[in-house]
Amino acid sequence: MIDLRSDTITRPTARMRRAMAEAEVGDDVFGEDPTVRRLEEETARLLGKEAALYVPSGHMSNQLAIYAQVNSGDEIWAHRSSHILANEQGATSVLARALPRAYDDPRGYPDHDLLEQWAAGSNDVHRARPRLICLENTFTGRVVPLTEQQRVADFAHALGMSLHIDGARLWNASVELGVPPSEAASGADTVSVCFSKGLGAPVGSALAGSAETVDRARRARKLLGGGMRQAGIIAAGALHALHHHRDRLAEDHRRAAELAVALDALPGMSALARTNMVVVTTPPDEAARWARAFTEHGVGCVPIGPDLIRLVLHLEVDDAMLDQAIKRIAEAAAAARR
Ligand SMILES: Cc1ncc(COP(=O)(O)O)c(C=O)c1O
Repeated sequence: MIDLRSDTITRPTARMRRAMAEAEVGDDVFGEDPTVRRLEEETARLLGKEAALYVPSGHMSNQLAIYAQVNSGDEIWAHRSSHILANEQGATSVLARALPRAYDDPRGYPDHDLLEQWAAGSNDVHRARPRLICLENTFTGRVVPLTEQQRVADFAHALGMSLHIDGARLWNASVELGVPPSEAASGADTVSVCFSKGLGAPVGSALAGSAETVDRARRARKLLGGGMRQAGIIAAGALHALHHHRDRLAEDHRRAAELAVALDALPGMSALARTNMVVVTTPPDEAARWARAFTEHGVGCVPIGPDLIRLVLHLEVDDAMLDQAIKRIAEAAAAARR
């Protein structure tokens, strides 16, 4: 099976396993794990923020960002199909007890008119207090342009709101734009990044922001039972990924572009590459059936809409596997068309 369902499926490389086995560790709940500390400091520095907190997952990182910045009953604005609103079990309403307000824009970020409209009368006593805007970058592989991100950040700050970026794949945005991660995270008060997606580490994400916000998030992580003891074992995998797997994301993007060109030429489908993801459009309402056919022909994929299939390039896919995947999908598509 050539598994293109997600970049989360990668297993640690031999060198990464060695780094993990040899990690210096201590009790991180006492703040004594040198590897976790190093990971947090390096991540904060890379992202241009004061501090960072190592957490078990991107989900927890996003929710801690919200919990640390929002009071019960405040509004958070996020995309309708963002991970925060669509794939975290409604946790914003359970943990921070925030009121989610969903924007819906195919580009992944809200336009100026909508923000103006939502901000109008926000001081009205009848209204919930708008407190946080969330962006996702990349958004299904699509990079949010830096000028748009800055525009949303400026808008949020002018209104006394904060900006959180779910940057599970911010590393991909940084490589695609050719800018340092700190620039890709610019304007954000908090940013969540994942080590276990394109970077290929087995576990973990980080929340970066001001020292004060990260302190609040650290307390909330403990509240949720997320304090980890000798976490340096897994943090070492994340550090290794940070040092050795960031630049190679460009290879995933190059392979995604090649895959999209090859699939786009096949009858019955069109395909678009966005950073490390390829989105295939099938005939109407055929995504589930075509995705089954791809899988039966040995290429793992995920249907993400009635006629959309997602394929993700990652660390375990080389050029020979890419050629194989293209051949198998061509056979699968021919079978599905019959
Ligand atoms: C954009 C985005 N944010 C957050 C997450 C959550 O990450 P985790 O699975 O580590 O909780 C994911 C997971 O795929 C994601 O795609």
